[in-house]
Amino acid sequence: MAKIIDGKKIAAEVRADIKRRAAEFAAETGVVPGLAVVIVGEDPASKVYVRNKGLACVEAGFKSVTVEMPEETTMDELLGKLEELKADSTIHGILVQLPLPRHLDEKAVLEAIPPEKDVDAFHVVNTGKIMLGEYSFLPCTPAGVMELLRHENIDVCGKECVVVGRSNIVGKPMAMLLLHANGTVTVCHSRTRDLAEVTRRADILVVAIGKADFITGDMVKEGAVVIDVGMNRRADGKLTGDVDYASVEVKASAITPVPGGVGPMTITMLLENTLTAAKESVK
Ligand code: GUN
Repeated sequence: MAKIIDGKKIAAEVRADIKRRAAEFAAETGVVPGLAVVIVGEDPASKVYVRNKGLACVEAGFKSVTVEMPEETTMDELLGKLEELKADSTIHGILVQLPLPRHLDEKAVLEAIPPEKDVDAFHVVNTGKIMLGEYSFLPCTPAGVMELLRHENIDVCGKECVVVGRSNIVGKPMAMLLLHANGTVTVCHSRTRDLAEVTRRADILVVAIGKADFITGDMVKEGAVVIDVGMNRRADGKLTGDVDYASVEVKASAITPVPGGVGPMTITMLLENTLTAAKESVK
């Protein structure tokens, strides 16, 4: 049976440390880290994520601003709001929750967030830095995965790492972080010819495709570490990952549950990035 990687517990430890460092920084400089989260429209999942981000900020002693804009918000209105937040010296991090309503130009919106306040690390400048390994901000979900591996003393160096999914938010930056940690990295996607053949090679398997229970035990090597980034809702309303937990946990040496695995780490890394942005702002 696999060891369950308890993301909730690890996140709580890291968040306590962030809170302590933020308080220390505030005592030294008088600056309280501030995060603004912008949400456009009524997507129920996005609303939950945004609420959790705000709560995490407050718990860490940060300033939290949530900007809720209606579905019919225009580009001009959204860009105007971002200009306001950009000029606000009490806000060190700005995040626009994705996905945006279809009529809005996501790329233009992400480019309107100044790189120094881009705590998601989605701006082209920060994306480019990730490629080069010169991080200002680590992309939150992949960074959370690396933090989990570190906490579990799982060494990436020289290992076969397989990432399933090639999104800009998770798959691509995940591959870069594993590569920078000296893993041998393969990225699979919907056009991969024999997916199971590739995933069975993995010592470390990271799955981020958004398909419920997609990776089954027969696709996993005995003793592999399996990291499930998925967050899907089953027909019965229950949350589930991209990994079929029951059949994989009997093969894996370690596995992240859903919920309670990667999820809590993503927001933790967002707090870390906001603290970094606040520190950079007084340099
Ligand atoms: N939607 C799903 N994940 C994310 C994320 O990490 N950041 C933002 N801004 N939107 C998301």
